[in-house]
Amino acid sequence: MTRLNRTESFYCADDPSLLWEMTVCQCLASGDSAYAKALTRPASYGRLVGEFLQLEAALPEQPGQIIEVGGGYGSLMAGLLEVVQPRKITMVDISAFLLQQQQKTLQGRPIDFVCQDIFSFLPTLQTPVELLIANEIIADLPTVTNIRQALLQERLPGAETLKPADPTALNDLDAEALLDEVARLTAAYGLDLDDLPEEFNFNLGALLLVEQLGKTGVKRIFITEHGADTELPYPFSIQLRSYERLSKNPRQIKLKDHDEYTIRFDHLEAAATRLGFSVKRFHLMDLLQVRFDDEINYLLTTGKPTTEEQEILLEFYDHIAEYQGMLLLAGG
Ligand SMILES: C[S@@+](CC[C@H](N)C(=O)[O-])C[C@H]1O[C@@H](n2cnc3c(N)ncnc32)[C@H](O)[C@@H]1O
Repeated sequence: MTRLNRTESFYCADDPSLLWEMTVCQCLASGDSAYAKALTRPASYGRLVGEFLQLEAALPEQPGQIIEVGGGYGSLMAGLLEVVQPRKITMVDISAFLLQQQQKTLQGRPIDFVCQDIFSFLPTLQTPVELLIANEIIADLPTVTNIRQALLQERLPGAETLKPADPTALNDLDAEALLDEVARLTAAYGLDLDDLPEEFNFNLGALLLVEQLGKTGVKRIFITEHGADTELPYPFSIQLRSYERLSKNPRQIKLKDHDEYTIRFDHLEAAATRLGFSVKRFHLMDLLQVRFDDEINYLLTTGKPTTEEQEILLEFYDHIAEYQGMLLLAGG
Protein backbone atom coordinates (compact mmCIF):
# COMPACT_ATOMS: atom_id res chain seq x y z
CA MET A 1 0.00 0.00 0.00
CA THR A 2 1.49 3.37 -1.04
CA ARG A 3 1.98 5.61 2.00
CA LEU A 4 3.99 8.55 3.28
CA ASN A 5 6.86 8.01 5.76
CA ARG A 6 7.23 10.99 8.08
CA THR A 7 9.54 11.73 11.01
CA GLU A 8 8.30 14.98 12.55
CA SER A 9 6.46 13.30 15.46
CA PHE A 10 9.85 11.93 16.56
CA TYR A 11 11.67 15.27 16.24
CA CYS A 12 8.82 17.29 17.77
CA ALA A 13 8.68 15.04 20.86
CA ASP A 14 10.14 16.26 24.18
CA ASP A 15 13.71 14.97 23.83
CA PRO A 16 14.59 13.44 20.45
CA SER A 17 18.04 11.89 20.90
CA LEU A 18 20.48 11.86 18.00
CA LEU A 19 23.15 10.11 20.01
CA TRP A 20 22.67 6.62 18.72
CA GLU A 21 22.06 7.78 15.11
CA MET A 22 25.81 8.30 14.84
CA THR A 23 25.62 11.28 12.51
CA VAL A 24 29.02 12.02 10.96
CA CYS A 25 28.76 15.54 12.35
CA GLN A 26 28.40 14.18 15.91
CA CYS A 27 31.14 11.56 15.44
CA LEU A 28 33.42 14.47 14.50
CA ALA A 29 31.97 17.12 16.81
CA SER A 30 35.56 17.76 17.86
CA GLY A 31 38.87 17.16 16.14
CA ASP A 32 39.95 15.20 19.26
CA SER A 33 37.26 12.51 18.96
CA ALA A 34 38.21 8.86 18.52
CA TYR A 35 36.71 8.94 15.01
CA ALA A 36 38.88 11.91 14.01
CA LYS A 37 41.86 9.52 14.05
CA ALA A 38 40.53 8.34 10.68
CA LEU A 39 41.34 11.72 9.12
CA THR A 40 44.60 12.76 7.50
CA ARG A 41 44.16 16.16 9.22
CA PRO A 42 42.06 15.61 12.37
CA ALA A 43 39.55 18.46 12.72
CA SER A 44 35.91 18.96 13.58
CA TYR A 45 33.36 18.22 10.87
CA GLY A 46 32.20 21.85 10.81
CA ARG A 47 35.72 23.13 10.18
CA LEU A 48 36.22 20.59 7.38
CA VAL A 49 32.90 21.58 5.80
CA GLY A 50 33.93 25.26 5.98
CA GLU A 51 37.29 24.59 4.31
CA PHE A 52 35.60 22.42 1.66
CA LEU A 53 33.10 25.21 0.87
CA GLN A 54 35.90 27.78 0.57
CA LEU A 55 37.73 25.54 -1.88
CA GLU A 56 34.85 24.11 -3.91
CA ALA A 57 32.26 26.89 -3.73
CA ALA A 58 34.40 30.03 -3.22
CA LEU A 59 32.68 30.77 0.11
CA PRO A 60 34.14 34.09 1.28
CA GLU A 61 35.68 34.45 4.77
CA GLN A 62 33.08 37.06 5.68
CA PRO A 63 29.91 35.93 3.93
CA GLY A 64 26.54 37.61 4.35
CA GLN A 65 23.76 35.37 5.63
CA ILE A 66 24.25 31.66 6.34
CA ILE A 67 21.30 29.39 7.14
CA GLU A 68 21.54 25.91 8.61
CA VAL A 69 18.45 23.71 8.51
CA GLY A 70 18.21 20.76 10.92
CA GLY A 71 21.40 21.62 12.80
CA GLY A 72 20.99 18.89 15.45
CA TYR A 73 23.25 19.75 18.40
CA GLY A 74 24.81 22.76 16.62
CA SER A 75 28.31 21.33 16.29
CA LEU A 76 28.60 21.80 12.51
CA MET A 77 27.93 25.52 12.87
CA ALA A 78 30.36 25.79 15.81
CA GLY A 79 33.17 24.32 13.66
CA LEU A 80 32.20 26.33 10.58
CA LEU A 81 32.48 29.55 12.58
CA GLU A 82 36.16 28.78 13.20
CA VAL A 83 36.66 29.28 9.46
CA VAL A 84 34.15 31.95 8.39
CA GLN A 85 32.59 34.99 10.08
CA PRO A 86 29.13 35.48 8.57
CA ARG A 87 27.30 38.77 9.07
CA LYS A 88 24.04 36.90 9.85
CA ILE A 89 23.31 33.32 10.93
CA THR A 90 19.91 31.62 11.03
CA MET A 91 19.36 28.14 12.50
CA VAL A 92 16.02 26.59 11.46
CA ASP A 93 14.78 23.38 13.03
CA ILE A 94 11.45 21.62 13.48
CA SER A 95 12.55 20.44 16.95
CA ALA A 96 12.25 22.92 19.83
CA PHE A 97 14.40 20.58 21.96
CA LEU A 98 17.25 20.43 19.42
CA LEU A 99 17.10 24.20 18.91
CA GLN A 100 17.72 24.57 22.65
CA GLN A 101 20.75 22.28 22.32
CA GLN A 102 21.99 24.43 19.42
CA GLN A 103 21.56 27.55 21.56
CA LYS A 104 23.72 25.97 24.29
CA THR A 105 26.44 24.92 21.83
CA LEU A 106 26.46 28.30 20.08
CA GLN A 107 25.84 30.55 23.07
CA GLY A 108 27.23 34.06 22.98
CA ARG A 109 26.90 34.35 19.22
CA PRO A 110 24.31 36.55 17.52
CA ILE A 111 22.15 33.91 15.84
CA ASP A 112 18.44 33.78 14.96
CA PHE A 113 16.90 30.47 16.07
CA VAL A 114 13.71 29.62 14.21
CA CYS A 115 11.48 26.69 15.21
CA GLN A 116 9.78 25.83 11.94
CA ASP A 117 9.40 23.13 9.34
CA ILE A 118 11.76 23.78 6.42
CA PHE A 119 8.86 23.96 3.94
CA SER A 120 6.99 26.65 5.85
CA PHE A 121 10.25 28.55 6.50
CA LEU A 122 11.51 28.78 2.89
CA PRO A 123 8.83 31.16 1.54
CA THR A 124 9.67 33.58 4.40
CA LEU A 125 13.43 33.47 3.86
CA GLN A 126 15.12 36.87 3.67
CA THR A 127 17.53 37.14 0.76
CA PRO A 128 20.38 37.39 -0.08
CA VAL A 129 21.64 34.08 1.36
CA GLU A 130 25.27 33.10 0.73
CA LEU A 131 24.90 29.52 1.97
CA LEU A 132 22.23 27.08 3.12
CA ILE A 133 23.35 23.89 4.88
CA ALA A 134 21.20 20.76 5.07
CA ASN A 135 23.42 18.15 6.69
CA GLU A 136 21.84 14.74 7.23
CA ILE A 137 18.30 16.07 7.22
CA ILE A 138 16.86 15.20 3.79
CA ALA A 139 16.40 11.49 4.65
CA ASP A 140 14.04 12.75 7.36
CA LEU A 141 11.82 14.56 4.87
CA PRO A 142 8.69 12.70 3.65
CA THR A 143 9.26 9.57 1.55
CA VAL A 144 6.55 7.89 -0.51
CA THR A 145 6.90 4.14 0.05
CA ASN A 146 5.65 1.04 -1.78
CA ILE A 147 4.93 2.62 -5.18
CA ARG A 148 3.95 0.13 -7.90
CA GLN A 149 5.84 0.79 -11.15
CA ALA A 150 2.80 -0.13 -13.28
CA LEU A 151 0.55 2.35 -11.45
CA LEU A 152 3.09 5.14 -11.79
CA GLN A 153 3.95 4.50 -15.44
CA GLU A 154 0.31 4.92 -16.51
CA ARG A 155 0.23 8.39 -14.91
CA LEU A 156 3.44 9.70 -16.47
CA PRO A 157 2.29 11.01 -19.89
CA GLY A 158 1.68 14.75 -19.49
CA ALA A 159 2.17 14.56 -15.71
CA GLU A 160 4.57 17.55 -15.74
CA THR A 161 1.51 19.81 -16.16
CA LEU A 162 -0.20 18.54 -12.97
CA LYS A 163 -0.67 21.17 -10.26
CA PRO A 164 2.19 20.86 -7.75
CA ALA A 165 1.21 19.74 -4.25
CA ASP A 166 1.67 22.14 -1.33
CA PRO A 167 4.82 20.85 0.45
CA THR A 168 3.46 22.15 3.79
CA ALA A 169 0.31 20.01 3.47
CA LEU A 170 1.59 16.62 2.31
CA ASN A 171 -0.35 14.92 5.13
CA ASP A 172 -3.57 15.83 3.33
CA LEU A 173 -2.65 13.77 0.26
CA ASP A 174 -4.22 10.33 -0.16
CA ALA A 175 -2.45 7.50 -2.03
CA GLU A 176 -3.80 8.68 -5.40
CA ALA A 177 -2.66 12.27 -4.88
CA LEU A 178 0.75 11.05 -3.70
CA LEU A 179 1.15 9.05 -6.92
CA ASP A 180 0.18 12.12 -8.95
CA GLU A 181 2.86 14.17 -7.18
CA VAL A 182 5.48 11.46 -7.76
CA ALA A 183 4.45 11.33 -11.44
CA ARG A 184 4.66 15.13 -11.74
CA LEU A 185 8.19 15.28 -10.37
CA THR A 186 9.31 12.26 -12.41
CA ALA A 187 8.02 13.77 -15.66
CA ALA A 188 9.09 17.36 -14.91
CA TYR A 189 12.71 16.41 -14.14
CA GLY A 190 13.10 13.34 -16.39
CA LEU A 191 13.88 11.05 -13.43
CA ASP A 192 15.18 7.61 -14.32
CA LEU A 193 13.05 4.83 -12.77
CA ASP A 194 14.43 1.99 -14.94
CA ASP A 195 16.77 0.59 -12.33
CA LEU A 196 14.07 0.40 -9.64
CA PRO A 197 12.22 -2.78 -8.66
CA GLU A 198 8.51 -3.37 -9.35
CA GLU A 199 7.71 -1.80 -5.97
CA PHE A 200 9.88 1.11 -4.88
CA ASN A 201 10.28 4.15 -2.60
CA PHE A 202 10.60 7.78 -3.69
CA ASN A 203 12.34 10.73 -1.97
CA LEU A 204 9.39 13.11 -2.30
CA GLY A 205 10.44 15.57 0.42
CA ALA A 206 14.05 15.79 -0.74
CA LEU A 207 12.96 16.51 -4.33
CA LEU A 208 10.42 19.08 -3.20
CA LEU A 209 13.14 20.74 -1.15
CA VAL A 210 15.38 21.08 -4.22
CA GLU A 211 12.40 22.41 -6.19
CA GLN A 212 11.58 24.98 -3.50
CA LEU A 213 15.23 25.99 -3.16
CA GLY A 214 15.25 26.68 -6.90
CA LYS A 215 12.82 29.55 -6.20
CA THR A 216 14.82 31.18 -3.40
CA GLY A 217 17.96 32.55 -5.07
CA VAL A 218 20.23 31.06 -2.34
CA LYS A 219 23.75 31.22 -3.79
CA ARG A 220 25.22 27.97 -2.43
CA ILE A 221 23.49 24.90 -1.00
CA PHE A 222 25.35 22.13 0.84
CA ILE A 223 23.55 18.80 1.26
CA THR A 224 24.78 15.47 2.64
CA GLU A 225 22.98 12.23 3.43
CA HIS A 226 23.01 8.43 3.23
CA GLY A 227 22.94 7.76 -0.52
CA ALA A 228 20.92 5.10 -2.31
CA ASP A 229 23.20 5.42 -5.36
CA THR A 230 26.58 5.86 -3.68
CA GLU A 231 29.77 4.71 -5.35
CA LEU A 232 32.86 4.50 -3.18
CA PRO A 233 35.89 6.53 -4.26
CA TYR A 234 39.10 4.69 -5.18
CA PRO A 235 40.85 2.95 -3.36
CA PHE A 236 38.03 2.29 -0.90
CA SER A 237 35.97 0.85 -3.76
CA ILE A 238 38.40 -2.07 -3.81
CA GLN A 239 38.94 -2.49 -0.10
CA LEU A 240 35.49 -2.08 1.43
CA ARG A 241 34.22 -5.34 0.02
CA SER A 242 31.38 -5.69 2.51
CA TYR A 243 29.82 -2.64 0.93
CA GLU A 244 27.65 -3.72 -1.97
CA ARG A 245 24.75 -1.83 -3.44
CA LEU A 246 22.30 -4.16 -5.09
CA SER A 247 19.49 -1.77 -5.88
CA LYS A 248 19.09 1.98 -6.20
CA ASN A 249 15.78 1.76 -4.39
CA PRO A 250 15.83 4.15 -1.39
CA ARG A 251 16.39 1.81 1.57
CA GLN A 252 14.60 2.01 4.87
CA ILE A 253 16.89 2.76 7.84
CA LYS A 254 15.22 1.86 11.13
CA LEU A 255 16.11 4.31 13.89
CA LYS A 256 14.81 5.06 17.38
CA ASP A 257 11.04 5.72 17.04
CA HIS A 258 11.28 6.69 13.36
CA ASP A 259 12.49 5.46 9.97
CA GLU A 260 14.57 7.28 7.37
CA TYR A 261 15.14 6.42 3.69
CA THR A 262 18.40 6.66 1.77
CA ILE A 263 18.55 9.25 -1.02
CA ARG A 264 18.72 8.93 -4.81
CA PHE A 265 21.21 11.76 -5.35
CA ASP A 266 21.03 11.23 -9.12
CA HIS A 267 17.35 12.23 -8.93
CA LEU A 268 18.18 15.36 -6.94
CA GLU A 269 20.96 16.20 -9.41
CA ALA A 270 18.58 15.84 -12.38
CA ALA A 271 16.05 18.17 -10.75
CA ALA A 272 18.65 20.72 -9.62
CA THR A 273 20.24 20.84 -13.09
CA ARG A 274 16.88 21.50 -14.77
CA LEU A 275 16.23 24.22 -12.18
CA GLY A 276 19.40 25.99 -13.33
CA PHE A 277 21.86 25.04 -10.56
CA SER A 278 25.39 24.00 -11.30
CA VAL A 279 25.79 20.71 -9.40
CA LYS A 280 28.91 19.25 -7.79
CA ARG A 281 28.57 15.81 -6.22
CA PHE A 282 31.10 14.31 -3.83
CA HIS A 283 31.66 11.35 -1.56
CA LEU A 284 31.95 12.27 2.11
CA MET A 285 35.25 10.36 2.30
CA ASP A 286 36.70 12.94 -0.09
CA LEU A 287 35.44 15.89 1.94
CA LEU A 288 36.80 14.32 5.13
CA GLN A 289 40.06 13.24 3.48
CA VAL A 290 40.12 9.98 5.41
CA ARG A 291 43.39 8.09 5.84
CA PHE A 292 44.31 5.25 3.51
CA ASP A 293 47.63 3.98 4.89
CA ASP A 294 48.94 0.50 5.70
CA GLU A 295 46.92 0.24 8.91
CA ILE A 296 43.65 1.20 7.21
CA ASN A 297 44.41 -0.96 4.19
CA TYR A 298 44.98 -3.93 6.52
CA LEU A 299 41.82 -3.20 8.52
CA LEU A 300 39.57 -2.86 5.49
CA THR A 301 41.04 -5.92 3.79
CA THR A 302 40.89 -8.28 6.77
CA GLY A 303 38.05 -6.71 8.80
CA LYS A 304 40.00 -7.80 11.89
CA PRO A 305 40.77 -5.01 14.36
CA THR A 306 43.20 -5.91 17.14
CA THR A 307 42.68 -2.86 19.39
CA GLU A 308 39.68 -0.84 20.54
CA GLU A 309 40.99 2.12 18.53
CA GLN A 310 41.03 0.00 15.37
CA GLU A 311 37.51 -1.25 16.10
CA ILE A 312 36.31 2.36 16.21
CA LEU A 313 38.16 3.14 12.97
CA LEU A 314 36.64 0.18 11.15
CA GLU A 315 33.15 1.03 12.38
CA PHE A 316 33.63 4.60 11.15
CA TYR A 317 34.79 3.59 7.65
CA ASP A 318 31.89 1.18 7.34
CA HIS A 319 29.50 3.88 8.48
CA ILE A 320 30.65 6.64 6.14
CA ALA A 321 30.85 4.35 3.10
CA GLU A 322 27.26 5.16 2.15
CA TYR A 323 27.40 8.93 2.60
CA GLN A 324 27.55 11.38 -0.23
CA GLY A 325 26.90 15.04 -0.75
CA MET A 326 25.97 17.64 -3.28
CA LEU A 327 26.79 21.31 -3.76
CA LEU A 328 24.21 23.35 -5.65
CA LEU A 329 25.55 26.61 -7.03
CA ALA A 330 23.03 29.15 -8.27
CA GLY A 331 23.41 30.72 -11.66
CA GLY A 332 24.51 27.58 -13.54
C1 LIG B 1 19.41 13.38 11.66
S1 LIG B 1 19.33 14.96 12.42
C2 LIG B 1 20.84 15.68 11.80
C3 LIG B 1 21.38 16.72 12.73
C4 LIG B 1 22.69 17.38 12.28
N1 LIG B 1 22.53 18.11 11.04
C5 LIG B 1 23.80 16.37 12.18
O1 LIG B 1 24.27 16.12 11.04
O2 LIG B 1 24.21 15.83 13.22
C6 LIG B 1 18.07 15.81 11.53
C7 LIG B 1 17.83 17.24 11.98
O3 LIG B 1 16.86 17.83 11.11
C8 LIG B 1 15.78 18.38 11.87
N2 LIG B 1 14.58 18.24 11.03
C9 LIG B 1 13.97 17.09 10.66
N3 LIG B 1 12.93 17.35 9.86
C10 LIG B 1 12.89 18.69 9.70
C11 LIG B 1 12.04 19.57 8.96
N4 LIG B 1 11.02 19.10 8.24
N5 LIG B 1 12.28 20.90 9.00
C12 LIG B 1 13.32 21.39 9.75
N6 LIG B 1 14.16 20.60 10.47
C13 LIG B 1 13.94 19.27 10.44
C14 LIG B 1 15.80 17.56 13.15
O4 LIG B 1 15.13 18.17 14.22
C15 LIG B 1 17.29 17.40 13.38
O5 LIG B 1 17.86 18.57 13.95
